[in-house]
Amino acid sequence: MTNNKNTKSTLKKDINLDAPFHVSGRTKYVDDLPELEGTCFAKAYYSRCAHGEIKKINFSKAEKLNGVVKILSHKDVPGENQIGGIVRDEPLLADKEVHFYGQPILLIIAESETIAEKAMKLIEVDYKEKEIIVDPREAYKKGSVLSSSRTFKLGNPTSKFKKCAYVFEGEADSGGQEHLYLETQGAYAIPKDQGGLLIHSSTQGPTAVQKVTANVLGLNMSQVEINVNRIGGGFGGKEDQASHWAALAGFGAFITKRPVKLILSRHEDLQMTGKRHPYRSDYKIGLDKDLKIIAYTASFYQNGGAAADLSPAVLERTLFHASNSYFIPNIEVTAHPCKTNLPPNTAFRGFGGPQGKFVIEAAIHRAANELNIPAHNIQKANLFKNGDEFSFGQKVENCEATKCWNDLSKRYELKRLEKEIEHFNKENKYFKKGIALQPICFGISFTNTPMNNARALVHVYNDGSVGVSTGAVEMGQGVNTKMVQVAAQAFGLTLDKIRLEDTNTTRVANTSPTAASATADLNGKALQDACQQIKDRILPLAGELLKEKNLKNISFVDGKVKAKRKNIDWVDLVQTALLRRINMSAKGHYSTPRINFDKKKEKGHPFAYHVYGNSIFVVTLDCIRGTYEFEAVKIVHDFGASMNKAVDLGQIEGGLVQGMGWMTLEDVVYNKKGLLKSNTLATYKVPDVYFVPKEIEVHFLKTNTDNLAILKSKAVGEPPLMYGLGAYFSIINAILAFNPNASISYDAPITTEKILMTLYS
Ligand code: MTE
Ligand code: HPA
Ligand code: MOS
Repeated sequence: MTNNKNTKSTLKKDINLDAPFHVSGRTKYVDDLPELEGTCFAKAYYSRCAHGEIKKINFSKAEKLNGVVKILSHKDVPGENQIGGIVRDEPLLADKEVHFYGQPILLIIAESETIAEKAMKLIEVDYKEKEIIVDPREAYKKGSVLSSSRTFKLGNPTSKFKKCAYVFEGEADSGGQEHLYLETQGAYAIPKDQGGLLIHSSTQGPTAVQKVTANVLGLNMSQVEINVNRIGGGFGGKEDQASHWAALAGFGAFITKRPVKLILSRHEDLQMTGKRHPYRSDYKIGLDKDLKIIAYTASFYQNGGAAADLSPAVLERTLFHASNSYFIPNIEVTAHPCKTNLPPNTAFRGFGGPQGKFVIEAAIHRAANELNIPAHNIQKANLFKNGDEFSFGQKVENCEATKCWNDLSKRYELKRLEKEIEHFNKENKYFKKGIALQPICFGISFTNTPMNNARALVHVYNDGSVGVSTGAVEMGQGVNTKMVQVAAQAFGLTLDKIRLEDTNTTRVANTSPTAASATADLNGKALQDACQQIKDRILPLAGELLKEKNLKNISFVDGKVKAKRKNIDWVDLVQTALLRRINMSAKGHYSTPRINFDKKKEKGHPFAYHVYGNSIFVVTLDCIRGTYEFEAVKIVHDFGASMNKAVDLGQIEGGLVQGMGWMTLEDVVYNKKGLLKSNTLATYKVPDVYFVPKEIEVHFLKTNTDNLAILKSKAVGEPPLMYGLGAYFSIINAILAFNPNASISYDAPITTEKILMTLYS
């Protein structure tokens, strides 16, 4: 809830309006909603087999347990037993077969969560196990895929390799990543008067939840209302995967006609939900003697899990970002969406982009290591420039790659830093420092062009205060604060006059999920449109009251409506307008101009703009223990004209550390039977405050180019995660300083165990 007393006075910019509520524990999530009388509690009984035929299900004992209201199977689903978004390949509840360990089979509805848990233990299922595949290369070999492979191509790399001075080939693999949002998945479904449902869902995609639930229950979408106050983190994990739990809660409520709450425990969430896609990849890179990359090919084997979910879209973004910040005139990249028996993997900050970038960075590092030069010599020689072409046909415009690079190396004295590290490494035998530079370039827009649209609803009330609804979901990234700022700026009001409402499908419909970092751009521009409509309606009245003929001379600032000589209070204008029966509500709409993509040709202009940046990592490695400490990360980032430095800085720091975790600590381990071994926080490590670099410095690059960002403030949600790749390569460089002949395998994450083994390889 963003209207509060803490922000009364000014149009103060650089604050996050939610912060006081978060730090004092007053923020409300789904499980904090007051429970209605008669509320039931649901649990999903899930498969203990990663691939098999269901031979027998016996839940008669569980059903008889005192306090169990009902146990439902796929046979009870009133609509279609199907929740797949892009591909219709995922049942709500398993039917004849199970395809991953953790797949929901039955829905238990009970008077309490404890009873539901007890009932779970009384259920018996017999499986006839089938072949279990967990590796994407093996899946691909056996023809187990989720959708079709895709290839992006520019020039002709195959013929150019022959002309290259240096050619290197190899493999590069990156691991999965657990979202670990603080609020686990969950929903609270409430039957409505005259049929239909209201569902409070912890989702990034209220419309996706609405659509899936309506389909499963055989209802019209108009009978299903989805409400989201805010969510306790999503990181992509709730873009599509919140729908499953909301539809199950909705199913329970629909059948029992009672409110049903379904909240996953942390253990269930870890076990049952998909993660970042692990990738295995092959690369071949060719350079000329000036270190220009002449040719590059890569094949990506995406570990999609047991159902398509968002994998085809994630796969596409891997290709869009396969060359990171570098112009490669001859490039051919192919990606295969492989079907394995893991929980369906899904969106995760960067959406396949980080996995694509890891491979080109590995290829560059390999080349540099073989040529005995720093990788940043190759990185720098190949940065994008205006007029270059991406493999998918878009031309590079407003490129900040070189500016970020030069600013970073000058500001943080790269040359001196390198000398210091060289000196340190000469002086120390068992401690070695490593340095790496990590540039980023990330395209902003949903790669699926039709998704780039949004709407907003604005009411101006009689007292001059303003209510705003948009399709944006607040998940910690600060979009609510940005929406409040947009409305406040449009009407010239202080932030406390703007109330940001829950995200609700009955007020703002057919929304795209809060994703692709584009939420503030899309919803902010729709909001500007709505505010402008209201202003246009009251301007003639303002002109009359201010005796100003030229309406262009009228402005809205500091709670006043001003002409050259005279001004009136905003509140007075609003009240007069309402007396004159002027409509003081408006619905705004925005759809991103210019963007397009032709999937047949794999060419187009899919991104509204790109975000650039560069970073330096310095790490000190204890070569006896394999432990390390990040001394410093320094960043020059292209924010455009940041509209909120506090929020944007938070996104950089959070994204950076999350990316570093993915590359180093976070090891998602499944055994050969498809069982998640890293299924507790004792066995899955995420960065804590002691892991965070001792020093993080972020410089806001000053640019003032016209772009399609909201108030020229560029999208900031996902790009910083990709700085995290620098953590990997700085550690590798420290290892090589200790043992120049170490055998480097380019398989992230580089855990402490792997560091030790590589040091002495
Ligand atoms: N920041 C916080 N605190 N919590 C989150 O869940 N999700 C990230 C990013 N930053 C996330 C976050 C992801 S995956 C995306 S796509 C963007 O925020 C989405 O929000 P935006 O479009 O408003 O940037
Ligand atoms: N990014 C994030 N989420 C998405 C996208 C995308 O490009 N396309 C569909 N969902
Ligand atoms: Mo973010 S991975 O687009 O939700």
